[in-house]
Amino acid sequence: DAKPDVTWLGTPISELGRMPDCGQQLPRLKNVSGQHTVLIRTDLLQNGKVPVPYPAKFTDTWDDVHVKMPWSGMNLFPVINEVMVLEPDAAEHLFGSLLPDMVQLALRASELCTKPIPLLKGGMNHSITMSQEQVASLLANAFFCSFPRRNSRKTEYLNYPDINFFRLFEGASPKKIEKLKTLMCYFKSVTEQRPTGLVTFTRKSLDRPPNWKSSQSQLTKLHITCEGTIEDDGYGMLQVDFANQFVGGGVIGSGLVQEEIRFLINPELIVSRLFTEALGHKECLIITGTQQYSSYTGYAQSYKWGGSHQDSTPRDGWQRKCTEIVAIDALQFRSFLEQFHPARINRELNKAYCGFARPGERSQNLSAVATGNWGCGVFGGDTRLKALLQMLAAAEAGRDVAYFTFGDSQLMTDVHNMHAFLTARNISVGEVYDLLGQYYSSVCKSCLSRRPDVSLYSFIYQQVSSSLAPDASDN
Ligand code: AR6
Repeated sequence: DAKPDVTWLGTPISELGRMPDCGQQLPRLKNVSGQHTVLIRTDLLQNGKVPVPYPAKFTDTWDDVHVKMPWSGMNLFPVINEVMVLEPDAAEHLFGSLLPDMVQLALRASELCTKPIPLLKGGMNHSITMSQEQVASLLANAFFCSFPRRNSRKTEYLNYPDINFFRLFEGASPKKIEKLKTLMCYFKSVTEQRPTGLVTFTRKSLDRPPNWKSSQSQLTKLHITCEGTIEDDGYGMLQVDFANQFVGGGVIGSGLVQEEIRFLINPELIVSRLFTEALGHKECLIITGTQQYSSYTGYAQSYKWGGSHQDSTPRDGWQRKCTEIVAIDALQFRSFLEQFHPARINRELNKAYCGFARPGERSQNLSAVATGNWGCGVFGGDTRLKALLQMLAAAEAGRDVAYFTFGDSQLMTDVHNMHAFLTARNISVGEVYDLLGQYYSSVCKSCLSRRPDVSLYSFIYQQVSSSLAPDASDN
């Protein structure tokens, strides 16, 4: 047993060799080809002096035995075709001014965003209003991927969308390049001229869903067109974002359909991903005041940045652009019949109603809903059912509807006819709801094929006609 006052054993430490005393004098430092690569001027090496790089000018080497440098003239990756290579002027602007300005903007965040930003968690009813400049600074941080716990250690934010832009920089798909062009157009605008407005983000939860079955509400007005878009022709209306439960969907990754495009041309929407937890079934996010900075052409694979856009939308009393966008996420259907199930119908009605209803506001003060084929692209829903459900939700919320069929003229005719048919007969929301239930139980439930034998609209025409004119078939 060691005695308590024994604190070391063995050879006294003073007998152990230490550098530099134990060592031999170093030979003169010199570069030895194949053995020792020295990156500085050895002849000028002096205690206390900053070493001088050698050689004086950059030697550009691009091979498999040297580190490939970011500033090499050979660094053209990713190069798929010539179109993507930046013009010298554009490169000069990007590296000489835009990126440095974005760094400054990102660094100003701590001066700009002084108040803690609350997370908009599931079930909360809460609004956040911030300036467009604060948004810009936060988005500059997202660009440089500086939000902590949001890159790889994602457990803490598992139920939140990605905010850091890292996925935007991976891969070399032409879609990513067009996304980047669109976002750089935004950063160019906000770094050249400080934006002056505000933006409000409101998370809203539906506490009491309507009693659909007993609703006496009549359908509201419908404008339906196969031309134009929600964002161009629905100005001043409540514009529907065909959302993902993680708002913005694949805007930073590979998605490029309605929601992602809207988030790219109005990038202030993207900051909602910083604080908006995944939406629940009876929840929506309303974003008021975002500005459109870019135009675009094409869609999905053919999407192209179309240059900068001057947004002439007027501002409200809170200095917000009069652009109100509501993110509502439809259900994704794998089988066609599934969506006619009453539980799914209820879910979609309540989701749309949550987005459209403004309790406390009078119907005449509410703008129309600008919508279209919600849930009917990537999410596989039926346009005719969804159009009807949105008309019911809008009627219940006391709002008119502007419906953009996105080029589908047959859909325009069919939905218009259905709306005209129902309104001419004063069929209430509750009655239509009831017909949907009947359609499920008498057509869909027993259906053995992938698609029902009778379409929803034919069924409604048949049922209503026979119940209103029971004798018609006798004559
Ligand atoms: N204006 C009017 N209608 C449009 C517009 C527009 N600007 N753009 C597209 N449409 P989709 P979803 C029509 O597939 O099925 C995203 O990744 C067009 O007919 O975007 O609800 C989200 O993040 C299109 O086919 O919506 C979700 O993850 C249809 O609207 C997911 O997609 C549906 O557009 C949502 O998918």
